[in-house]
Amino acid sequence: MSEQNRKTNYVVIGFMGSGKTTIGRRIAALSGREFFDTDVMIEQETGVSVTEIFAAEGEEGFRRRETQLLQKLVGEGADGRVYATGGGMILRQENRDLLHRLGEVVWLQVKPQTVIDRLSGDTTRPLLQGDDRMRKVTDLMQSRRSCYEDAADFAVSVDGRRPAEIARQILCRENQKALLERRI
Ligand code: S3P
Repeated sequence: MSEQNRKTNYVVIGFMGSGKTTIGRRIAALSGREFFDTDVMIEQETGVSVTEIFAAEGEEGFRRRETQLLQKLVGEGADGRVYATGGGMILRQENRDLLHRLGEVVWLQVKPQTVIDRLSGDTTRPLLQGDDRMRKVTDLMQSRRSCYEDAADFAVSVDGRRPAEIARQILCRENQKALLERRI
């Protein structure tokens, strides 16, 4: 495939509950790309849930698995894909470098209250279990902000917006770039 016809990958990053999977799927459907979710890939590879990996190996064990997966994906060099990532994928510098190599990195920016509303009653995120979820979300978001900024090629706000609209905004940017480069 010529360089001009190559479809870049999109890598969707953002906090838990920002809509990475939903919006990633939309981008894939609208642009004819294939969708992948890194949490699901890790679960398929290990045969157990993210919660079980956290319980057995701790957060560090899970982060190690995330890095191994990214290394594998970058090594494969596939294009025409959309990857939704786990919210903490951006924590390691090594991962941020790998994410950049994997594709165009889109950061879904979300407010703490939106996360709280969307994830009320959720039991699948080990880092948000227990009391005072608002404090947990606010602190975690604050501590991760610079990592998201560093990892992202561009950012899109998601609060109060429909997934299809956000996906179109992301793809619109691609069309504008292609026009500027006279690819279309
Ligand atoms: C995590 C986010 C989760 C999952 C794991 C850790 C995080 O993915 O990878 O529970 O550290 O933010 P989602 O962002 O898809 O919920």
